[in-house]
Amino acid sequence: MSQTQKELKLKHLFDGGAWNVYDPNVLNLGVGAPGTDLLEPCCDIFHQATAHCLEREKSTNQSLIFQYGPKSGNYEVRREIANYFSSQYDMPMKSEDLIITTGATQGLHFLISTLIDFKGYIFVDEFTYMIALDSMKEFTSLTLVPIKLNDDGVDLHDLEEQVAKSVFKSNEKEFWGIYYTIPTYHNPTGILFSPAVCRGIVDLARKYDFLVVCDDVYNILHYGEKPQHARLLSYDVCSDANYKGNVISNGSFSKIIGPGVRLGWLEVPARLKPHLLQNGLIQSGGCFNNYTAGIVGSLFELNLAQEHIKRLYEAYKERMLATIELLKSELPADCKMLKPSGGYFIWIRLPEPLDASEFLQYCLEHEKIAFIAGARFALANDMGKQYFRLSIAFHGKQKLQDGVRRLCRALNDYRKTIKA
Ligand SMILES: Cc1ncc(COP(=O)(O)O)c(C=O)c1O
Repeated sequence: MSQTQKELKLKHLFDGGAWNVYDPNVLNLGVGAPGTDLLEPCCDIFHQATAHCLEREKSTNQSLIFQYGPKSGNYEVRREIANYFSSQYDMPMKSEDLIITTGATQGLHFLISTLIDFKGYIFVDEFTYMIALDSMKEFTSLTLVPIKLNDDGVDLHDLEEQVAKSVFKSNEKEFWGIYYTIPTYHNPTGILFSPAVCRGIVDLARKYDFLVVCDDVYNILHYGEKPQHARLLSYDVCSDANYKGNVISNGSFSKIIGPGVRLGWLEVPARLKPHLLQNGLIQSGGCFNNYTAGIVGSLFELNLAQEHIKRLYEAYKERMLATIELLKSELPADCKMLKPSGGYFIWIRLPEPLDASEFLQYCLEHEKIAFIAGARFALANDMGKQYFRLSIAFHGKQKLQDGVRRLCRALNDYRKTIKA
């Protein structure tokens, strides 16, 4: 291990590595982040929101935005988030249920570290958000268990079988286990969990008293008809006789405003909020992101956030529909693609005996295009070899279409080399 550190002067998360989505020499179709054109208006709208917010801080709020914030985040910001998402979800989101975070990644870490017995279990879909897996693996005393995924969501039989095998009574924390999922426009598969699966998950969570954490970062990105119950939380109904509050929604502005803003929120049942607010992390620091939350509150008050989100939504929708249309005509018939109805991702299965990691190497070499091979999203090393994930978020329609054409051409050529 080197004893000195080199200053690399990197500019973004993908800089300096194999996944540099800004590299003009490689067309990277894998990265799940908004592109340059989508972030460009942020400088202007944040300028206006910052002026609005700081003017008020100075004139009427004793500059409290620079003070340790209230643990859940200030009321005005939570009210803006609750109002906006109530209208998006067509069901009420209550400001008092929210805790401001620095994004869904931190939200998940905060939940695991606060609510789960460290001798407990994390159940995950057999393919899931790969970096959530990386975060979970840091909790080395927890056991991670993959659960089968069907085209309409998690396999309820497998979930129940694994949960029943593992359940225990925790004397340390609120929950002995957690099921982490992305039920709406799943990463990486794009699946929208069906109402029956959502209901089944809530029934199991109540029966075995485990926590369900929904990574809800893509929820409002519907490109077809808006689903009636677009999120799993809406199935954990307060008025049910056996309601306890087993589901937490983990939201973020990363995909709909900009990831650099680092702002998100947890929507938590009443019984769990006091446990979260007693964590030293939030008691010591106050609101996780008080300053930025204030600015984003102004962004909503000035209607700039709503307009920006709409712009991103329209762009994603156009990109997704165009990419799917082209894949439908260009992708060899023996590949499997579930047509996503929202979100960022398209999940493709190659026919036997093709291996997506080897195909990726071929694409890089022959077409200078990249995507993420399926094994990266699996806990078990031998899973997902036939799959790969494309993202529609970063590049504009033309580049995506160009990439898809080259990808499909490369696939046809690659197969010839395998058969030979
Ligand atoms: C499912 C999922 N959760 C969380 C994140 C990251 O969210 P945040 O930037 O809010 O930490 C991503 C980004 O790719 C994601 O796909």
